[in-house]
Amino acid sequence: MEKPEVIRSLYDDQFKILDSILKLHIKEKTFDVDLTYGNGAFYKNGIPQPQHRFDIDDSLKNITKVCNSNNTNLPSASVNSVIFDPPFLTYIKKQRTGNSKMVMSRRFSGYWTSEELSEHYKSSIKEAARILKHKGIMVIKCQDIVHNHKLFCTHAHILNWCSDFFRLKDLFVQAAKHRMPAPNRKGIQKHARIFHSYWIILQRWAK
Ligand SMILES: C[S@@+](CC[C@H](N)C(=O)[O-])C[C@H]1O[C@@H](n2cnc3c(N)ncnc32)[C@H](O)[C@@H]1O
Repeated sequence: MEKPEVIRSLYDDQFKILDSILKLHIKEKTFDVDLTYGNGAFYKNGIPQPQHRFDIDDSLKNITKVCNSNNTNLPSASVNSVIFDPPFLTYIKKQRTGNSKMVMSRRFSGYWTSEELSEHYKSSIKEAARILKHKGIMVIKCQDIVHNHKLFCTHAHILNWCSDFFRLKDLFVQAAKHRMPAPNRKGIQKHARIFHSYWIILQRWAK
């Protein structure tokens, strides 16, 4: 008899990771809510569209509602799963306008300060905890950054910000297939160039 494929923690293909998350952690095999839907790039190659497709950018097609991810207006304890893939870059002056010269920031938008990033993540995690049922699943895609010459370990901060509402259920690392954003400054390299992102799987859990 053929052995079933073993799902691994590391892939360079986001669809493989999304498919693995649905198989391992989402009973319904589809996400209920995407808080930062963007262009819907997650929903290809057999990954089904979520029922609620939210984003703050009102120019996007295919979203079901324009809203801030920290204020969805969904009833409390009403959904089984939420996926959250917010911007991960800082030093983006024209946040969310798409006017920056950097290709990555034009595509994904971003924040000026790390405090602004932290506030958005924290308030959206709180909102996800509110709308999720007990034992519901939150998936966060994130990437660490170098901000103000220091490594800002976004994934580690997220685990702290979540600890009042969620327990860590699983963790995937996505290796980049292509070039990741480079620091703007010329000079001596001080940090390893970041070539991976994290997919954090959390389960709603009252402490
Ligand atoms: C990294 S992109 C998401 C990409 C999306 N997963 C995709 O594959 O197309 C981040 C998205 O978050 C949205 N966003 C930024 N700030 C937001 C906020 N406060 N509330 C909701 N969406 C926000 C942006 O408009 C952008 O579409």
